[in-house]
Amino acid sequence: MDGLRLRLPSEVVELHDHRLRQRNVRLLLKREDLIHPELIGNKWRKLKYNLTRATEQGKSTLLTFGGAYSNHIRATAAAGYHFGFKTIGIIRGERHLPLNESLAHAAAQGMTLAYMDRSTYRRKMDPEVIVALRERFGEFFLIPEGGSNVEALDGCAEIAHEIDRDFDLICCPCGTGGTLAGVSAGLQDGQRALGFSALRDGRFLGDKVSRLQQQRYGRVFNNWSIECEFHFGGFARRNAELTAFIDSFERRQGLRLEWIYVAKMLYGIFTLIERGVIIDGTTVVALITG
Ligand SMILES: Cc1ncc(COP(=O)(O)O)c(C=O)c1O
Repeated sequence: MDGLRLRLPSEVVELHDHRLRQRNVRLLLKREDLIHPELIGNKWRKLKYNLTRATEQGKSTLLTFGGAYSNHIRATAAAGYHFGFKTIGIIRGERHLPLNESLAHAAAQGMTLAYMDRSTYRRKMDPEVIVALRERFGEFFLIPEGGSNVEALDGCAEIAHEIDRDFDLICCPCGTGGTLAGVSAGLQDGQRALGFSALRDGRFLGDKVSRLQQQRYGRVFNNWSIECEFHFGGFARRNAELTAFIDSFERRQGLRLEWIYVAKMLYGIFTLIERGVIIDGTTVVALITG
């Protein structure tokens, strides 16, 4: 895996801002976005042990699912390209030509793209759907949508292990819950994890995190929670307030935040600090996952 030149451990940088100083809170950014241009952030963490497991099982093809703009599809294509797996991406909905940039890139890295109607896609993990996929494509190693499975948890737990500074709270954005499930499992006693839902209806996310931890560790950790207030209208929705936050963050810090997940989380962190929910004296780590 060294041939890829992954930047690991990912860098940790402290953010300096008067709002943090006023509240006596330290905020450290863990720059998962800098790990690799194509295997950004939690994508690498989630895929790492999936690749190991696929190899152990002698599987040479990876099959996974995603929407037409899925970062996970793109990352799986890149992982296949770099690590010598064939890849199949099952894309939700109909094919649109020309391919968007994300799918075109995946295809250029050798991924076979196949499309699944939306009603079958909702049942994509049902045994009969998987059997039909095996009949069509032959043997493959199955990675779920978003890459969140038990293998992903081990990779995400390593994020927490890597941090060599003291901290109290680690924050991450949540889409499928795999990152939070793994990170929470990697914490030491007394540390907590807080996920920020990027989805409008984030309530089911807690069940997903619990299920993943139960599957992987045989128990659910009690060191995490999920904040559902900062979705800005729902997945991939934004408003002027979020845009203003992103612009002002870039002016102050020189970093343009990814808006679907990361900006919403950071907006939430600053709000909770301002409200005193994240209390005086806390050291927070925020995962910049994209
Ligand atoms: C940039 C980014 N951050 C965070 C997440 C959410 O991670 P998870 O699906 O593990 O909750 C995703 C989606 O996988 C993502 O693309």
